[in-house]
Amino acid sequence: AGATGPGAVTASGDEHDPAPAPRDVLRFPENFGWGAATSAYQIEGAAKEDGRGESVWDTFSRTPGRTLNGDTGDVAADHYHRWPEDLDLMRDLGLHSYRFSISWPRVQADGTGKPNQRGLDFYRRMVDGLNERGIAPMATLFHWDLPQALQDAGGWENRDTALRFADYADTVFRALGDRIPVWLTVNEPKTVVQNGYLTGHHAPGKQDPDAAYLVAHHLQLAHGLAVQAFRATGEPGRIGPAINLHPCYPADDSPAAAAATRLYDGYENRLYLDPILRGSYPSDVLADLGPDSRLVRGIADGDLAVISAPVDLLAVQYYTPIYVTADGGTERRWPTSVAAWQQIYPDGFYDILTRVTRDYGPIPLTVTENGLPTIDVLAADGTVDDAARVDFLRDHLSAAHRAITAGVPLESYHVWSLLDNFEWEAGYDQRFGIVYVDYPTQRRILKRSAHWYRQVIRDNGV
Ligand code: NOJ
Repeated sequence: AGATGPGAVTASGDEHDPAPAPRDVLRFPENFGWGAATSAYQIEGAAKEDGRGESVWDTFSRTPGRTLNGDTGDVAADHYHRWPEDLDLMRDLGLHSYRFSISWPRVQADGTGKPNQRGLDFYRRMVDGLNERGIAPMATLFHWDLPQALQDAGGWENRDTALRFADYADTVFRALGDRIPVWLTVNEPKTVVQNGYLTGHHAPGKQDPDAAYLVAHHLQLAHGLAVQAFRATGEPGRIGPAINLHPCYPADDSPAAAAATRLYDGYENRLYLDPILRGSYPSDVLADLGPDSRLVRGIADGDLAVISAPVDLLAVQYYTPIYVTADGGTERRWPTSVAAWQQIYPDGFYDILTRVTRDYGPIPLTVTENGLPTIDVLAADGTVDDAARVDFLRDHLSAAHRAITAGVPLESYHVWSLLDNFEWEAGYDQRFGIVYVDYPTQRRILKRSAHWYRQVIRDNGV
């Protein structure tokens, strides 16, 4: 794959090292895409502007007790107003690709009907700005900000929401399809299922397992319908799902732990990969849910054919492994980040990338999220030294490089995130950006990791 492999040496050091020394670089394939990712509700702010409707996250974050410090996305990183500056910053970093999401309630305030031109215009200007700067736009259609009006009508428990999504997607394809080369349908359906409907830590904040897996089906149906709508437009771009994967390992070597891990993997990974890439639900998960479950009863004839409409690429998001105990619980094996759910384990990245290629065939892969939250501080000298993020990214990119060497068709990588942003129920304390956002002034400050990543892009390697 064009990689020169582990021995390649360049003489260019990080420009911020006082004495740049020659160093080994794990070089990525020629044309490898280096990018960064964000999502609408997490960065845009401007919650009430230009005809934007309310989303479930407006409702949820404004409900006392739901988010840390009562934080909301009302202002966030104010990207809605500062996008030209943010695009300049991406150009200065040398990004090839920028993954962002389109806010459904900006395009259809209530989730249905005539599109809001001012909402579409915002994205058209931003996308044109990316193309002018030579940065490829990658647009996610749904990154969790469901119009509240659709939630009031049952949200993702209601099959009709998938049809509404296809209509919204069609509107966006017709407005922007000629200028966006890569589309992602639904971001992390599993997180909506698990956090939105099992733990209730995300909008809409329910704890209803039977509803949760029906929601999984409708999210996947929405994905498939959007793929079909995209094909119908005849636009030349590519489209696929964005799925967060968790490699699952047994916590001990007992047969019980092995069996528990297999089923856990079904719920974490195969439940979202199999319908799209194989046209079937994993039988162990369906058996575990039982014939009377809302999911099993909710699968209509023809749904799986829609869901498995051929995709052009699979977008993978990786943050953490899961260790499964014999009784089906979980255990910590590795140090966690400031997010309690994240154990830092770069080999898990290698494992999950090679596994999807092995089990689902050589479909092109893009990594659309991978990153580390930290509690960063802006020092008196104006710098932000996020050394832990540099270590995390270097180790994970090394694992990705190993996966490529092992034959994984990985074409690009997007760090989560470009900017510090609204980390959902965790508010603003956990910072994922390679660029620091000083919220009181909205000033952007490149962290050490941003300087480092710029050099990674220049070297095409770590
Ligand atoms: C996945 C989500 O897509 C993104 O919105 C979130 O901020 C990151 N993970 C970090 O938790």
